[in-house]
Amino acid sequence: KILILDFGSQVTQLIARRIREAHVYCEIHPNDVSDAFVREFAPKGIILSGSHASTYEAHDLRAPQAVWDLGVPVLGICYGMFAMAVQLGGTVEPSRHREFGYAEVRAHGHTRLLDAIEDFSTAAGHGMLKVWMSHGDNVTQMPPGFKLMASTPSCEVAGMADEARGYYAVQFHPEVTHTRKGREILERFALQICGAKPDWVMVNYIDEAVARIREQVGDDEVILGLSGGVDSSVAAALVHQAIGDRLTCVFVDHGLLRLDEARMVMEMFADRLHVKVLAIDASEAFLGELAGVSDPELKRKIIGREFVEVFTREAGRLEQAKWLAQGTIYPDVIESGGAKTKKATTIKSHHNVGGLPETLGLKLLEPLRELFKDEVRELGVALGLPHDMVYRHPFPGPGLGVRILGEVKREYADLLRRADAIFIEELRNTIDPVSNKSWYELTSQAFAVFLPVKSVGVMGDGRTYEYVVALRAVQTSDFMTADWAELPYALLKTVSSRIINEVRGINRVTYDVSSKPPATIEWE
Ligand code: XMP
Repeated sequence: KILILDFGSQVTQLIARRIREAHVYCEIHPNDVSDAFVREFAPKGIILSGSHASTYEAHDLRAPQAVWDLGVPVLGICYGMFAMAVQLGGTVEPSRHREFGYAEVRAHGHTRLLDAIEDFSTAAGHGMLKVWMSHGDNVTQMPPGFKLMASTPSCEVAGMADEARGYYAVQFHPEVTHTRKGREILERFALQICGAKPDWVMVNYIDEAVARIREQVGDDEVILGLSGGVDSSVAAALVHQAIGDRLTCVFVDHGLLRLDEARMVMEMFADRLHVKVLAIDASEAFLGELAGVSDPELKRKIIGREFVEVFTREAGRLEQAKWLAQGTIYPDVIESGGAKTKKATTIKSHHNVGGLPETLGLKLLEPLRELFKDEVRELGVALGLPHDMVYRHPFPGPGLGVRILGEVKREYADLLRRADAIFIEELRNTIDPVSNKSWYELTSQAFAVFLPVKSVGVMGDGRTYEYVVALRAVQTSDFMTADWAELPYALLKTVSSRIINEVRGINRVTYDVSSKPPATIEWE
């Protein structure tokens, strides 16, 4: 396995994802872990990340001495290169040219890291890489033993290597997709230079995870809040595989789920996988509490609070249960590690309805804690969950509660559910001829939004005066920024006419053409 030491860059997670895509297991830990920790981790290789403080002031951040004493290969990226340079006897100075964005890097010599990896070559036969750079400092003197590996016109040392010791460093970011050969470079480091085995595949992982869950829980019973989302579904399937009937899932229907969701969850888990599921129809209670409330944040709070109440009550009946299983995934773990900078303003409180309080008095079982989302999906498929379920778009915890603008009513939820289902069905059924993928796959999130205003229409000979829905479809890789999807007109046309014809009560359909920022993905 590979150890990634995090100096606080925004993109450290991407390093881990690229390494794991090469089927090598790796973990991210803060740069100031102890020497003993590094030794005990026993990595096959170490990667030093970049830092968000791209300036000189951060230069007191160091890697533990053990990194240099272990005798394993080390790769420094951006700030990680400065740390390597400074700690091994080189010099780093602020540069006159700050470099941000695309750059073309020329490779020097034939290092094991970059040899034969290139985007193009110059007339003079130099290998060139198209990369993403972001830095304000430069290595001005390489440490003893290092040779030049790469350079750009404004950054003389864009890469350096001491091949005898297996030390490599690059100023650019191989982990971001803008660096076209970045994946190849990181894979080369992990597999060839560190000699790590590419044995991290989800099918193998199941046995290991199952054994660990059995050991952890012993003979105890476990409960799990099943939402129908990817993470809780995969966690349920995995824990069930480990302990069978000693797992009880609690599925709370808050009345704000998608069309047929409750039935599909029961069919999948109870009927097909034979998982014990308690389905609680709490829609009366939720909708009752929400009556008359139109403030988005207040709605979120009520839904969150009500969920905890219902869940706590049901959990209390399962007296044998000692454990609460949750679908926490690796990005959640790293985020809460505190290494990340906190956002100054709360745009939305993002209540995750799965977040349950400690007062339940249960021990936490988090079997997906070390997996990225794409790995969770792979694991789901390996556990026999249907592809469509595992590759579903995300659905917010408060559900339709934040997609019905203003006050939530059952009538609105019923109309919205049907309109939304038509939209999703058409997205799934419309294949883009260029990519041969469905528009559901080509979008990251798509849904209908209920607008509680009435507009005039005409149907047959009659006048109608009914509600409006907006369609929203976005493309994004991280949900922090998003573009509205350029859906084909023909698809929008079909969806619109089907909704208006099939959902009595809606006579107008609009398409949301706002990107995030400044709009958010959800309307509330
Ligand atoms: P926004 O609307 O902030 O959404 O652009 C970004 C992503 O977060 C989801 N979202 C939520 N998820 N509870 C959740 O569990 C919430 O309260 C919530 N609000 C937004 C949204 O669906 C999108 O994927």
